Amino acid sequence: MCGIVGYLGKRTVVPVLIDGLRYLEYRGYDSAGIAFLQNDQQAFAVYKKSGKLSNLEAILPPNVFEPNGHQLHVGIGHIRWATHGAPTDLNAHPHLGAQGDIALVHNGIIENYGEIRQQLTAQGYVFQSQTDTECVAHLLESAMAQALGAAPEIDFLETIRRAFSQLRGAYALTIANRKFPDRLYVVRNHAPLVIGVGDQEYMVASDSVAVSSVVDRVVYLKDREIAEISPQGIRLMTLDGVLLEPRVDVLQSGPLLIDKKGFKHFMLKEIYEQPDVLRNSLSGRLLSADHPVQLFDESDSVMERLLTAKRLLIIGCGTSYNAGLVGKYFIEEVARIPVQVEAAGEFRYRKPVLDADTLVVAISQSGETADTLEAIRLAQLQGAATLVLTNREDSTMARETDAVLSVRAGVEVSVCATKSFLAQVVVLYLLGLFLAERRQTLSPEALTELKSGLVRLPIALEALLSDTEPIQALAKKYGHARDVLFIARGVNYPVALEGALKLKEISYIHAEGYSGSELKHGPIAMLDESIPVVSVLVPGPVFDKMLSNCQEAKAREARVIGIIASNAPPESLSEEIRQVFEDVVIIPAVEELLSPLLTTVPLQLVAYYMAEYLGKDVDQPRNLAKSVTVE
Ligand code: M6R
Repeated sequence: MCGIVGYLGKRTVVPVLIDGLRYLEYRGYDSAGIAFLQNDQQAFAVYKKSGKLSNLEAILPPNVFEPNGHQLHVGIGHIRWATHGAPTDLNAHPHLGAQGDIALVHNGIIENYGEIRQQLTAQGYVFQSQTDTECVAHLLESAMAQALGAAPEIDFLETIRRAFSQLRGAYALTIANRKFPDRLYVVRNHAPLVIGVGDQEYMVASDSVAVSSVVDRVVYLKDREIAEISPQGIRLMTLDGVLLEPRVDVLQSGPLLIDKKGFKHFMLKEIYEQPDVLRNSLSGRLLSADHPVQLFDESDSVMERLLTAKRLLIIGCGTSYNAGLVGKYFIEEVARIPVQVEAAGEFRYRKPVLDADTLVVAISQSGETADTLEAIRLAQLQGAATLVLTNREDSTMARETDAVLSVRAGVEVSVCATKSFLAQVVVLYLLGLFLAERRQTLSPEALTELKSGLVRLPIALEALLSDTEPIQALAKKYGHARDVLFIARGVNYPVALEGALKLKEISYIHAEGYSGSELKHGPIAMLDESIPVVSVLVPGPVFDKMLSNCQEAKAREARVIGIIASNAPPESLSEEIRQVFEDVVIIPAVEELLSPLLTTVPLQLVAYYMAEYLGKDVDQPRNLAKSVTVE
């Protein structure tokens, strides 16, 4: 969370910083700020503003965007997701040291900031903000003053390195020093940071997408690494002082165009991209129902672990966790291997039983979620092989794991995950089919049927998306509900959880997802005419059970809404079904085991249209950030 950028080069620095921050708005949007030195300025120019990046842009004087000569310019920028201190102008980054020598931006948490703050206050430092970050600026100025007291010239990288031995926590920082105006300094420990390398220019950021329009190469910093960036190059070392040779990689993707393509919100655009996302995720992996699933090279080291694993443990957070639950239903059924699913934040703080027979499958859109990353590291320490399903092949998780499967959803801008969920689920399905083929746990006919069902799904999804009027009508009718229940069973039970998560996240309406079977074990007590119960019904082994659960809800006067997969139009539904549901949305008929790839989408749309109807900030819901890099 929080996004940081830094630039050293001859371009006009402010537009570079602002463009970089625009790519990072998904990481937080409580406040934004920049600090820069240009045209031989003696002091940092600093602009900070609470709220979104556009608020900061509104206070910038026009001349900072004008070309300003060919000297070297240095600047840093930040977009904040508040941890310590409210999202005010004062708490916004960058933070400056007391003398104004040092300006820095920070992503993460300095855990012992209270202690450091006390020490510095005792030395006479006065704090302007409530952040943990400001103590680092004062600490570095204090360390620099001490170093300069002992010698006329100092190595500021070394000064930073020593000062950081006092700090605990997770952090990525970019630091500028007006006494060294041709340099930038960076430190990384448990928060992402990359150094973009161009032609006599450098751009630093929390995510390589933010540097891709300026540079074409990149150095991915590792934890506990620190660097000085100057026209002479990158001086890289560990926080223990071991010098390293920076490894420069070519950026895989060029500059990204972030465009709503005529949709009102990114979320809606991303929902509509899902048929193509499915095609893309299947492409080259499932050529047709007659071909075996291709996921890995035969020589890939993960192959053996996959084929010999006695169980799979899926870990993830939020929506990625829900995708893992769908994966469990599918993989256990088709590949007959035990699959456990656990929230990464819980897994990492207990003493799990893992061994070389367990394959850990971590799911993460961003590939940077702190809890999932630490869970992977824990699993590796315990001897388990790890496979990461991610949308970001250049992420920390992808670099640290034994094997990667890209989910290929394309850039997802809206904080609310939609197309990445579908892409994760389809890749889990491919993994299940791959295992079923290799382990010969399904008949060839059953395999062919599932594979042809998958190949047909993008078309069914297009049909579903071609008429969303009934869902829009639902959103208006129930938009003022205080609570909403989502129920489903079997492989669609995780879809109910995901539907509730979407609604909470963007409309702030209280919502819960339950298995229909669990209603009578407690939640049914809440039901009355004020609570809409959105229920997902797909013909298959649990259809009749779900219908009974809906009847039980209706008998308590709840308003039951049916999302029903059927080839028949609503008017031809049986009398029994029609009298249970106050409203019905028909979606294309689909094989039950594959149905989450369709049933999820109306629930995404319900959440979207409800939030939109209520006038909420759909793409950037309050209090959230897309990439959760703090625990
Ligand atoms: O990047 P990740 O998939 O690891 O992110 C995990 C969750 O933070 C994420 O899915 C979150 O729940 C979404 N905002 C939900 O829409």
